Amino acid sequence: MDRYGVFGNPIGHSKSPLIHRLFAEQTGQQLSYEALLAPLEDFEGYARAFFAQGLGGNVTVPFKEQAFTLADSLTERARRAGAVNTLKKLDDGSLLGDNTDGAGLVRDLTVNAGIELRGKRILLLGAGGAVRGILEPFLAQQPQTLVIANRTVEKAEQLARQFADLGPVVASGFDWIDAPVDLIVNGTSASLAGELPPISASLIQPGHTCCYDMMYGAGPTAFNRWAAEQGAARTLDGLGMLVEQAMEAFHLWRGVRPDSAPVLAELRRQLAAG
Ligand code: ATR
Repeated sequence: MDRYGVFGNPIGHSKSPLIHRLFAEQTGQQLSYEALLAPLEDFEGYARAFFAQGLGGNVTVPFKEQAFTLADSLTERARRAGAVNTLKKLDDGSLLGDNTDGAGLVRDLTVNAGIELRGKRILLLGAGGAVRGILEPFLAQQPQTLVIANRTVEKAEQLARQFADLGPVVASGFDWIDAPVDLIVNGTSASLAGELPPISASLIQPGHTCCYDMMYGAGPTAFNRWAAEQGAARTLDGLGMLVEQAMEAFHLWRGVRPDSAPVLAELRRQLAAG
């Protein structure tokens, strides 16, 4: 059986095994997909042992940067992200590192939600790994402007500099901006603590601005509740991004694109049921 899995620590909570099993069932692909608890002190040794037989892997917290180092070659989007969430063993036995997070988010926005990004004013909140991982695919959509706002402005400025060659990207503090934008993506980890990035409500044009939280939960996230209260036209959470990044990985490994919609519906159902 062709072997795949997701490396993480902890890994018990991962939804990737369910997602990939549903993809495999749907497409008739014969494969196994396991949760792989890699030791914190030896990701590389563990991953190399797995890839003696394994054909591909997803990588989650806290190993995405180590997977970047482990990979023998990188896709351009992974190189830009500085992190790898998908590894594929090539025919010569070497490991290709990819990062499908940004493509997954872009696909969730453009295909699933039908939100056009080209020519739009986009605000990204946060300047950590989550935001770095999506910048290349976002800029490839040719927005009018992409503002990265962060609590620690220097981190936003550093990212803006590193990606300036790809499009119109600028850095900001949270309280420097108040003119309405078309789309706000929350890539901070504030929602984890039930907190909100302190941004002006005037960034949301009621009935027009769409808001996306890269986090998700059983109910609306703190950011999405706040956005809905300000009159956001749409509020979307990161469950769709999770399924779409998995779909992109499955496509890289197997050459087929599963239909993500029934898988997303099943995950949503399970989340709601607790
Ligand atoms: P990740 O890999 O999930 O992006 P990270 O690299 O630790 O995690 O980045 C977390 C991001 O959330 C950062 O942009 C952080 O802001 P700082 O760079 O100023 O630390 C942001 N963040 C975390 N908690 C926040 C909060 N309560 N309010 C606003 N931003 C927050």
